Amino acid sequence: MDTLLKGQVLQFSGDPFAGDPTQAAQVERKGAVALTDGRISWVGPADQAPNAATTVDYGEALISAGFIDAHVHYPQTAMIASWGKRLIDWLNTYTFPEEARFSDPNYAADISGRYLDLALSHGTTTMCSYCTIHPESVDAFFDAAQTRKMRVLAGKTCMDRNAPDTLRDTAKSAYDDSKALLERWHGKDRLSYVITPRFSPTSTPEQLSALGALWSEHSDCLMQTHLSEQTEEIAWVKSLFPQARDYLDTYEAFGLLGANGVYGHAIHLEPREIDRIRDIGASLIHCPTSNAFIGSGLFQMATLKAKGLTVGLATDTGGGSSFSMLRTMACAYEIGQLAGTALHPAQLLWLATQGSADALHLGDKIGGLAQGREADIVVVDLASTPAIAQRSTRAEDVWEQVFPTIMMGDDRAIRDVWVAGQQVQQPDRPSTKTQ
Ligand code: GUN
Ligand code: ZN
Repeated sequence: MDTLLKGQVLQFSGDPFAGDPTQAAQVERKGAVALTDGRISWVGPADQAPNAATTVDYGEALISAGFIDAHVHYPQTAMIASWGKRLIDWLNTYTFPEEARFSDPNYAADISGRYLDLALSHGTTTMCSYCTIHPESVDAFFDAAQTRKMRVLAGKTCMDRNAPDTLRDTAKSAYDDSKALLERWHGKDRLSYVITPRFSPTSTPEQLSALGALWSEHSDCLMQTHLSEQTEEIAWVKSLFPQARDYLDTYEAFGLLGANGVYGHAIHLEPREIDRIRDIGASLIHCPTSNAFIGSGLFQMATLKAKGLTVGLATDTGGGSSFSMLRTMACAYEIGQLAGTALHPAQLLWLATQGSADALHLGDKIGGLAQGREADIVVVDLASTPAIAQRSTRAEDVWEQVFPTIMMGDDRAIRDVWVAGQQVQQPDRPSTKTQ
């Protein structure tokens, strides 16, 4: 065995939305996780741990599966926190001009590296990203992820209308470019290609149908898009697709609804849409900081989970206002409160790990600390600032100890990160003592 990590070890034995959240989550106060050849080879009490070449003792810190960001736009890294617009104006004013810069492969490589290093420094080890319409933006992102040995998912964002000339492809080039990228990257190392129509307002029916055809030819791939994010957007979709029953139908009619479909936001859903998504087994992705920042609305987590939908959690950077899944969990908690249900810390941590892994159909590979899973791990300091430390010392159980970090933590709480069994070297992180 290569490495033993000691600390408070968090594991899930089930979905904490299905019953008492504390029954689905287990924290071993003096636990250990063993890593061998990039995988988790053993988990249990530290005093029963097997010998290892290297041991790292994190004391009271929480050892968790790495965070999984199920919906992000890496090309929006440099324009995060752009002020004062709602969705359509925000896209036209800030997003499209920035995305146009990715025709330059050097710029795409710069931002890919910058984004992945920021994500890792926030404890995020896997993400599902939109790229831009430029194939170069996909190559740059997968190249950068491959260098870092990360498990990532991404795809070329397709748009053939309602976008600037420099950001439009066609139905045919979207199909051809997506197919070539899929054949180049899908299944290579830890990379997965995701078919990516941006959303129905920026694709003609011909493009939606071409991408639906591509998906049916490669049905093992995920397909990601946006759904029912903002009321003005929904009204626009109705006017562009007058024959559609609802927003979901603008995808369904063109072969873009399936079990491997991943639909971001999904705030203002009609009853038919909810039933259809559940029956088909597709995933919804909650993007709380984005929904607050762009003013989109309150995702109905409790209702949707109670109806049996699969839900993941995401930053939606740069519509989302943070790279941090801790900050994202905090906002999910706040939106839950506004919608009438307080999410338990176990539910929040599950959404950011196993829940997102399940939503991306990777739940058997990543998302949990279990024997055989890939060794992508985050170590979270539960007393990373004086404000958090003074609150967590009062805690009477582990959930009370963890919750202040969920609500007030950021990248300062990320004590260490492991990707495929290797410690990620972060220049500004204090070095961890190994024995
Ligand atoms: N809908 C279509 N494109 C986008 C995007 O880039 N961000 C968000 N938040 N919503 C979108
Ligand atoms: Zn998005």
